[in-house]
Amino acid sequence: MKAFIRDAVVAVTAVSAALALTACGPNTATGPGRDNADDAPTIAVLLPDAITARWETQDGPLLEEKIKKLCEECTVEHANAKGEVALQQQQMDSMISKGVDAILLVAVDGRSLAASVRKADEAGIPVIAYDRLAGGPIAGHVSFDGEQVGRLQGTSLLQGMASRAPDDQIVMMNGDPSDPNAALFKKGALSVLTGRVKIGKSYDTHQWRAEVAHMNMTGAIAALGAGNIDGVYAANDSLAAGSISALRANKVAPIPPVTGQDAELAAVRRIVAGRQYMTVYKPFAPEAASGAALAVAAARGENLGKVAEDTVTARDGTKIAAVMLTPLAVTADNIKDTLVKDGVYTVRQICAPGLWAACGKAGLT
Ligand code: GAL
Repeated sequence: MKAFIRDAVVAVTAVSAALALTACGPNTATGPGRDNADDAPTIAVLLPDAITARWETQDGPLLEEKIKKLCEECTVEHANAKGEVALQQQQMDSMISKGVDAILLVAVDGRSLAASVRKADEAGIPVIAYDRLAGGPIAGHVSFDGEQVGRLQGTSLLQGMASRAPDDQIVMMNGDPSDPNAALFKKGALSVLTGRVKIGKSYDTHQWRAEVAHMNMTGAIAALGAGNIDGVYAANDSLAAGSISALRANKVAPIPPVTGQDAELAAVRRIVAGRQYMTVYKPFAPEAASGAALAVAAARGENLGKVAEDTVTARDGTKIAAVMLTPLAVTADNIKDTLVKDGVYTVRQICAPGLWAACGKAGLT
């Protein structure tokens, strides 16, 4: 919290400040980025873009809710970098000069943000790498096993293509190479697909944009021939959407199996309708819960080992306290037992008019 606001608040609400400190526990006054002993913690939540739905529709609101639950008096400062590295660097600078107590960062570009992470660390502000492991001195990390995500996608794709010929050809739509997860997804997928199918074309997708995937798939269809694409490895649901729209625009029928990731509502509907084969569901609530717990503990200057039992190794060899969660493959068969059961979507939300018959078939009634 800024000093001038802080002074006013403290003067007016001395009693509630005292209560808040008690609620926050004995370590509250000693948080690393704290500029005053009776200051309620401020946590910055820095999201990467509004291109992929999950950040603003799932992670943002869940993080805010879970931070408030753990620390009622905490203030959350939320910013979105709109896919721009320079804007995220500015947002990091601004949070550092505000003197926030912890930063929860989903880096637009893992390498380019390392210098900002270092600046925050030097200012005594711990940075939690949420979902993507940015470079620099990261205090804590929560994510899913990215290679396992890729293996789930690759394995499901082979299952979806099982009835096809052995010389099947696929197109790969990989994520943005500046996202550290994209290489992990690709590596995991290739570990399953290499030698099992022919990879006709493989693209990396700037900013995970559906329209870039659409353009690349249009090129792949022109180069390989509409009838020669037997499966599409799409690293997430935006890339699945772009690939499928290009296949449909080029009258490819039936649509070959297409993978995805993020369990977006539109993707779940495509899966029910038989237009997308699968998605990877990385449960949002536990990821946000761990992200919030790490950020609150970091803001209070507590040991993150209490929240995070695992560790991951940074590029420079340092061990980082981490929570690593398990991703799940979702096809039409298990939407009910996963996404509906966890309350991510109701059957009503998924089963838009026009999907009722397909929903019945998928057991979504
Ligand atoms: C990854 C993330 C995925 C997906 C993608 C695109 O880092 O793990 O869930 O959303 O970014 O934003």
